[in-house]
Amino acid sequence: MKDFAGKIAFITGGASGAGFGQAQIFAEAGMKVVIADVRQDHLDEAMAYFKEKNLPAHAIKLDVTDRAAYAAAADEVEKVFGSTVDLLVLTAGVNVFGPAEASTYDDYDWVVGVCFGGVVNGLVTFVPRMIKAGKGGHIASTVSWGAFNAGPTTAPYSAAKAAVLNLLESYFIALKPYGIGVTALCPANIRSRIYEAAIQGRPEQFKNTGYNVTEETQKFLASIHANGMDPRVLAEWLKKGIENEQFLVVPYPSGPRMVEVALSRFVDYASPEGMKRWEEKQKQPPSEEEIKFMAEREGYDASKGMQPPAGPLNFKDVGFGKAKKDLDWVDPNKKA
Ligand SMILES: NC(=O)c1ccc[n+]([C@@H]2O[C@H](COP(=O)([O-])OP(=O)(O)OC[C@H]3O[C@@H](n4cnc5c(N)ncnc54)[C@H](O)[C@@H]3O)[C@@H](O)[C@H]2O)c1
Repeated sequence: MKDFAGKIAFITGGASGAGFGQAQIFAEAGMKVVIADVRQDHLDEAMAYFKEKNLPAHAIKLDVTDRAAYAAAADEVEKVFGSTVDLLVLTAGVNVFGPAEASTYDDYDWVVGVCFGGVVNGLVTFVPRMIKAGKGGHIASTVSWGAFNAGPTTAPYSAAKAAVLNLLESYFIALKPYGIGVTALCPANIRSRIYEAAIQGRPEQFKNTGYNVTEETQKFLASIHANGMDPRVLAEWLKKGIENEQFLVVPYPSGPRMVEVALSRFVDYASPEGMKRWEEKQKQPPSEEEIKFMAEREGYDASKGMQPPAGPLNFKDVGFGKAKKDLDWVDPNKKA
């Protein structure tokens, strides 16, 4: 997709962070933008911005896990704009951190429900409508660099994101004959409010977490995201990726090489000699190239002597990524 002007974009999570940046960039490119978000306060703030800038935007309050509401939102787009979407951007997501062994069903049901289930619902709702409209178009999703890495404290999140990446690849191949492109955007740190999700954004029915989540851990996460990529810059990377019909956008100068290095661990995992190689690598300090990658992904400049975490708080002091204290099977001394 190269021409955006006059076309319709539907962006989930479009009222904050990455999604809001995407809404701005695509509105500035002349698109009629629909922002769909579960938080009314975020929608109100975003709509005030579009009004002030005199850019066309339409807000829909939508929980992406609610399939009936999703279908109603798709009907609303057709009613308001006379046609279905040309560009579908599935960006709504949440996260929470803690040891994999402390994870509860609620941790999985909530995070996987929004991050994976929400993308499934977007695809099942809109793909038939897009095909029937016969206009071609493009589908993108804000996945995560986490899709390439299984961290010891990110189990539900990185599993959901890896699943989304795989899912999008199926659609990328399947939708090509219909003239519908698919792009997976895989950023690391973004300047956003995702740190709010684990407390303010977590619904009552999924409250039983196994992780230590407090105002202090939230403040720590906020300090990390303060160094993240500007959502507008991220959205420019996505726009370029869509223009180039690129399946994967890892939005850094070293992006393709980062993927190569990250995936090479599977070659190691696949043989006894490889496992030995992998064990050896774990004992080595990060290489110069890995330090460069971290700097690009996390938003600090190692060449200027900056070190992660670049925020004022230390994750150890605030208990970030730890289990709730009352889980008697979690040994805090066993660090993966
Ligand atoms: N922040 C990061 O560092 C980072 C890194 C990689 C990927 N991502 C991904 O980027 C996407 C956007 O996150 P962000 O960092 O901009 O966070 P954000 O919290 O600033 O924005 C996300 C928006 O999604 C909305 N949302 C949450 N649950 C929803 C639901 N069930 N239905 C509809 N809307 C919902 C929130 O209300 C919020 O407005 C997410 O998928 C996230 O996983 C974020």
